[in-house]
Amino acid sequence: MSADPLSGEALLRLRAEFPALEQSVYLVSHSLGAMPRATLTHLQEYTRLWVERGILAWEEWLPEIDRAAERIARIIGAPPGTVIMATNVSQVQAIVASCLEYRPERRRVVYTELNFPSVSYVWKAEERRGAEVVLVPSDDGIGVPTERLLAAIDERTVIVPISHVLFRSSYVQDVAAIVRRAHEVGALVLLDAYQSVGTLPLDVTALGVDMVCGGSVKWLCGGPGAAYLYVRPDLVRRLEPRVTGWFGHRRPFDFAMPAQQYADGIWRYLGGTPAVAALYQARAGAEIIASVGVEAIRRKSLRQTRRILERCRERGYRIRSPLQDERRGGTVVFDLPRAEQIAQELNRRRFLCDHRPGAGLRVSPHLYTTDEEIEQFMDEVDRLAAS
Ligand SMILES: Cc1ncc(COP(=O)(O)O)c(C=O)c1O
Repeated sequence: MSADPLSGEALLRLRAEFPALEQSVYLVSHSLGAMPRATLTHLQEYTRLWVERGILAWEEWLPEIDRAAERIARIIGAPPGTVIMATNVSQVQAIVASCLEYRPERRRVVYTELNFPSVSYVWKAEERRGAEVVLVPSDDGIGVPTERLLAAIDERTVIVPISHVLFRSSYVQDVAAIVRRAHEVGALVLLDAYQSVGTLPLDVTALGVDMVCGGSVKWLCGGPGAAYLYVRPDLVRRLEPRVTGWFGHRRPFDFAMPAQQYADGIWRYLGGTPAVAALYQARAGAEIIASVGVEAIRRKSLRQTRRILERCRERGYRIRSPLQDERRGGTVVFDLPRAEQIAQELNRRRFLCDHRPGAGLRVSPHLYTTDEEIEQFMDEVDRLAAS
């Protein structure tokens, strides 16, 4: 009997597509997803085009920008023409920030102290242009009460650049409530979905969120350099990024001087020449994730993260992730004495995970993780903790 296409068993058949799984117990996809075998072929295709076709390679390279965006759009439920590629999330934040004006009565940028720091660096720098950052505190370092965040968003708020899933704890923020509140007071929401897309279902259209960004390094198994920005269809033409370049021009090959004339569509958010190789590199991962669907990945992930939590409770390790399924992303964070050294030793022994100061070990099953690997990993942690 063939397995249900969405079962955990069906996902595990894809293990053969990820050579790294033969070398290691791979529980670090929140940081760097395993490379699909097909990535080698796609990068070869990129270089072959260059070698064989020279300048004519652009005939294939250029459409790859939209093809890469369409692959992301399919995963996040975005309509055609609403996603554009970029190099990294920090760059996307800067592009979005450069679309905004800060007026005395509306200049607040509201996010929590558990945001990804790089994102915060961009918005703090906007204070030089008149923005005022409002940092909403956390009591426990795991999450921020939604009510507290909502209360900080008011008519003085320009934008709420927040994470969907917090990198430090894997806490899932209540995006629907945040979007509702922001829209009530006329503010925008820029959702950083780096730690959700690929492991937690996200439908940007259903959420009505204004902008979403993320990248391919982690759950999308696409390596560095292929980040993306989604802009709500009715908003695409309303914004004009000051951080710009000739690929954002309505007719780049006119080489018109001196000022930018923005493209009508989503390409207006593209700056200079994009890093095309990264788009070829990111293709296989996005295709695999889209083909199995994030719902199936989530079902298996929840079962496996529950098992990790159970093992942590048995051993008395300090859990730093939410216990409720609906509040927890694809990662479990837990702490124990000498956690940083233990993480180093685990990696040396090819049990791949990582450590974050003030948080602990971050451990993530992905579509390719077996139940046996979870048990082996936790056994190894126990051995090292006892040694
Ligand atoms: C939530 C989140 N945002 C952003 C990033 C990375 O940002 P960038 O693409 O600018 O390196 C990470 C991880 O590295 C992350 O976990």
